[in-house]
Amino acid sequence: MDLIEVMEGSTAFFVPVQDAQTSFPPGSAAVFFNRKMELNRDATVLFCSCVEPTPKDYLDAMGATGVRGLRVAHECGIPVTINDRDLRAIELIQKNIEYTGCAIELLHRDARALLSERQFDAVDLDPFGTPAPFVDAGARGARRYLFVTATDTAPLCGAHLKAGMRRYFARPMNTEYHAEVGLRTLLSFVAREVIKYDRGVEPLFCCSREHFFRLHLRLKDGARAADQTLARIGYVLQCPKCPYREESPGMIPERTICPHCNAPLEPIGPLWLGAINDHALLARMQERLDAMELGTKKELDKLIALCTEELDTSSYYDYHVFAQWLKVSPPEIGVVLEQLHEAGYAASRVHYSGTGIKTEGPLISMIDAIRNPTMF
Ligand SMILES: C[S@@+](CC[C@H](N)C(=O)[O-])C[C@H]1O[C@@H](n2cnc3c(N)ncnc32)[C@H](O)[C@@H]1O
Repeated sequence: MDLIEVMEGSTAFFVPVQDAQTSFPPGSAAVFFNRKMELNRDATVLFCSCVEPTPKDYLDAMGATGVRGLRVAHECGIPVTINDRDLRAIELIQKNIEYTGCAIELLHRDARALLSERQFDAVDLDPFGTPAPFVDAGARGARRYLFVTATDTAPLCGAHLKAGMRRYFARPMNTEYHAEVGLRTLLSFVAREVIKYDRGVEPLFCCSREHFFRLHLRLKDGARAADQTLARIGYVLQCPKCPYREESPGMIPERTICPHCNAPLEPIGPLWLGAINDHALLARMQERLDAMELGTKKELDKLIALCTEELDTSSYYDYHVFAQWLKVSPPEIGVVLEQLHEAGYAASRVHYSGTGIKTEGPLISMIDAIRNPTMF
């Protein structure tokens, strides 16, 4: 395997040379490495440097080149174990561990078997595509923190409906707010895998990007914490004819009629309906960011600022789609937000789309803000 040296954050390591001519170069080499996931990894390094208490130890359960574990050990000073079930990955990780000079434990196991036998303070699941087959093991093997990446965005967002239902036992819908639905479908799935062990989930920093969803969660022991988590799972009821939607907490979606066009609302979920970020932690991350050596610092800064501003509501309006529905041309996003604020409603941008607006105002407030942008 031909190798090339790469630098991420302040960590240097080797990755396989990839074939740039193939449609997905990271898949062309014997061991996987995707440079485009640097922001995902930077976010976790920043998170681990800021979260309190600091993880006592960290398992990179699916190491590949070992980049995540190498970086957490080298840049955060946390004791790390790296695991992979592929022997070629193990050989490369061994070389990378020697190169960084960090004292890292290396294991060659199936992550599910490993997590059935041992616990780690923080467990990071970063598989190919869906994390669904690994989350139960993660829920058992993580003492305090569980981190999960999903790159199967089409099943989670409702574009591949049946795959989404099989993996997550949820019914997504390909709406204009699919990025939010995907993130909250994943979060509700992980929460359900955790609560069966009488443990609860507290989302600390969760985000949705074009090609992946990423969760950083705190796990809490006890039936009470599990019940509080269960109470945050529910549905968004969407009108099939107009943009109206409402939240419906609980295990079984209500049968409700759209107050605008009388069509029966369609349930999307189960979804996580609670907050997805800890704002005090976001503030610490933003503050620390400047002093960190991170390649995606600018993008992360913008992402954290947007997550800080973003409302906790579980759906948003794409205001361009909304304007199309109203048959008017869309005003500037700042103007729409200002109108909503002026009318007395909380409203924000979203962190994954330049045209997304969240508001606690009723549908009519959006109609007013888009149709009459100069009224206020
Ligand atoms: C997407 S790659 C990991 C990428 C890496 N974390 C990074 O940031 O570059 C997935 C890795 O999981 C490993 N893997 C797949 N199934 C596994 C299992 N059941 N147990 C342990 N490792 C597994 C694969 O060998 C592969 O190296």
